[in-house]
Amino acid sequence: MIIDKQIIRDWDVYYEDDIELIETSELNHWYEETLGYQPYRLYEYLTNQYQDTNILDIGTEYGFSAVSFAKNRSNKVDTWDLHRYSTFEILRHRYDNITPYTSDVSVGLGKYQPDYYKFVLIDVNPHDGVQELELYNILKESYKGFVLLDDIKLNTDMYNFWNNIEEEKYDLSDIGHETGTGLVNLSDEEVKII
Ligand SMILES: C[S@@+](CC[C@H](N)C(=O)[O-])C[C@H]1O[C@@H](n2cnc3c(N)ncnc32)[C@H](O)[C@@H]1O
Repeated sequence: MIIDKQIIRDWDVYYEDDIELIETSELNHWYEETLGYQPYRLYEYLTNQYQDTNILDIGTEYGFSAVSFAKNRSNKVDTWDLHRYSTFEILRHRYDNITPYTSDVSVGLGKYQPDYYKFVLIDVNPHDGVQELELYNILKESYKGFVLLDDIKLNTDMYNFWNNIEEEKYDLSDIGHETGTGLVNLSDEEVKII
């Protein structure tokens, strides 16, 4: 996979009509925030590098990460959250390629073939490095794909979690989230950053 930072910097994120329906309008501006603040340009770029694949989005909340992955309509996005937010029905009905689940994601992990998901995003509260490590360790057992980690620089616990990862990893915070975005390569693919 090639990660072309300039293309990501220039990526034109936009709301689709569906997104404007999100009732939490005060949150809408997050999506188009400048690069280095929010990670959605990066997510859109990554989903557009592959066709007809599957993406696992752990931590739906209002659905911004799910929607950014779903911008490539050929890819299917499974998104999990413990809670059902006000946008759940919008995600379910207006996006053919998003399937939202309301449950602890651990229930669903491990059910799939190792290469079923091309990307898995771990973005779970309370960002204390505990759940992140548990989920990451489950994936490390057999998963063959890319793991995206949000908020790796949010606090010391998250930084330690990130720092202790020994697999091939890339700090993409400069083209991701200002609180840190990491990419771990558990696939057989080569990653090239230009
Ligand atoms: C920061 S929000 C996710 C934001 C979202 N990824 C985005 O970019 O718009 C974190 C979410 O993780 C959810 N969460 C925490 N632990 C979880 C678990 N074990 N399984 C599924 N969701 C979980 C929380 O309920 C919360 O809504």
